[in-house]
Amino acid sequence: MLRRRYAFSALALLLAGPQVASAQVSFINDVAPILKENCFACHDAKKKSGKYDMTTFEKIMAGGVNGEPIVPGKPAEGEFHSLMVTTDQRRMPPRDKGEAVPKDKAAVIEKWIKEGAKLDAGIDPKADLVKELRVRWKPPVPPKAYPFPVIVNALTFTPDGKQVVVGGHHELTVWDAATGKLAKRIRTRAERAYGMEFLPGGLLAVAGGRPGQEGDVRVYDILKAKGKTQDGVEVLDGVSDKAVLVKHLFDVEDSVLCLAVTPDGKTLAAGGCDRAVRIFDLSNGLADAKLTQTVENHADWVLGCALSADGKYLLTAGRDKTAKVWDIKAKESVVTFPEHQNIVYGVAVKADGSAGFSVGADKQLRTWKPGGEGKQVKNAGGHGDEVFKVVANPKQPLLATSSADKTVRLWTADLAPGKVLSGLNDFVYAVAFSPDGELVAAGSYDGGVGVWSVKDGTPVKVFNASPGIVTKEPEPKKK
Ligand code: HEC
Repeated sequence: MLRRRYAFSALALLLAGPQVASAQVSFINDVAPILKENCFACHDAKKKSGKYDMTTFEKIMAGGVNGEPIVPGKPAEGEFHSLMVTTDQRRMPPRDKGEAVPKDKAAVIEKWIKEGAKLDAGIDPKADLVKELRVRWKPPVPPKAYPFPVIVNALTFTPDGKQVVVGGHHELTVWDAATGKLAKRIRTRAERAYGMEFLPGGLLAVAGGRPGQEGDVRVYDILKAKGKTQDGVEVLDGVSDKAVLVKHLFDVEDSVLCLAVTPDGKTLAAGGCDRAVRIFDLSNGLADAKLTQTVENHADWVLGCALSADGKYLLTAGRDKTAKVWDIKAKESVVTFPEHQNIVYGVAVKADGSAGFSVGADKQLRTWKPGGEGKQVKNAGGHGDEVFKVVANPKQPLLATSSADKTVRLWTADLAPGKVLSGLNDFVYAVAFSPDGELVAAGSYDGGVGVWSVKDGTPVKVFNASPGIVTKEPEPKKK
């Protein structure tokens, strides 16, 4: 699901703007990001290569076994800059471990040391630099028209079933399900949304992040909050407008990849690249949301999660090739389902908790019992490539799966195959049923979004969910 993940880097570069060459170098804004990119992998608080921890300003200046690596004003006298630009065998990063620091970046470090190797006013020399960088980072304003299609990693229907909310680039976009017309844009701090669910009151919980940098779960009022109208589209500020961004549940140092909420809205679970799933109790309302458990049950990224309606079971899908079940009340792992023997991308659960479903890189949909021994009940093939998501219909005993084979498939809860939904032209990463169970929507790697009728599998609308993009969208073939 996460390959080809840097497709947007060209846009990120575009948005980053030109480097300022003449102004005084700022440690936190100019130097620290270069160190984070090139050095922290080995010189963090855990690895401390050469006994050198670079994660605070104080420690950078103190150095490792060889002593102070920076002589303020004299870049050539300490090891810090010299090791980046040296032609000797001993270089930093070590020659066999990585590319040299780009010349223009090394020049920034050199200039900073020449100017006295100072820390910016107002920053504690003992402050954790990764955290400091994260706090200071400002999300870019999404472009009016996208130069590249956005990868659709998540989508959901609005509670009335009339619109589809789609994860954009540093924003959520809302589209009319019947016409594919853009209705609303909501700016977000997260670069990407990976999971989203409406809470019973109509607020939208969104899990997302910026790959390798940060991840979060935030809750937005996208239905009632007001924004400004630009070119006929309402634009809401989910970054700083407190009427739009109503709750910030948590943030971590890498993407949050999945989110699940019980139908009563009392339990929310979200997990991702830090291998953990955080479980929140929302029974006293969002304002009093309480983190009750941090479940670390997988050896690798958690790619999918689902909750049984009674909030008893948490089902998870792992890059560690297993699906697992956690008993939330007993706080223990109850099932490990190993049958996929490859990456498990998605899980779903029957509302009454009697059946678990999982899909993965083995192209299979499998079912098993969340309260059982981890034995498979049945499996079903059909997709021609990796299967990324499985979702359960809220009203009917039906499932939908989405795949790298560019299709969505419908299944009965006993895994009998139903309609194959086509019309998208790339990997289908996201799929969701409408609240009344009558429609299914899916989103693909190239920005495509399709909406189909569950009853007969006919397409309602296929459009590209990248605002302003110019594409020739082929009309869906009627069957
Ligand atoms: C792939 C791992 C790796 C990366 C990335 C890396 N280093 Fe190192 N570094 C090491 C190892 C291992 C040592 C200890 C061996 C040595 O001193 O040559 C070391 C030692 C050092 C030392 C000497 C510390 C002392 O007092 O002994 C300095 C200074 C240093 N690194 C600076 C940097 C800088 C600056 C960067 C980023 C531009 C960087 N390193 C990136 C692995 C790394």
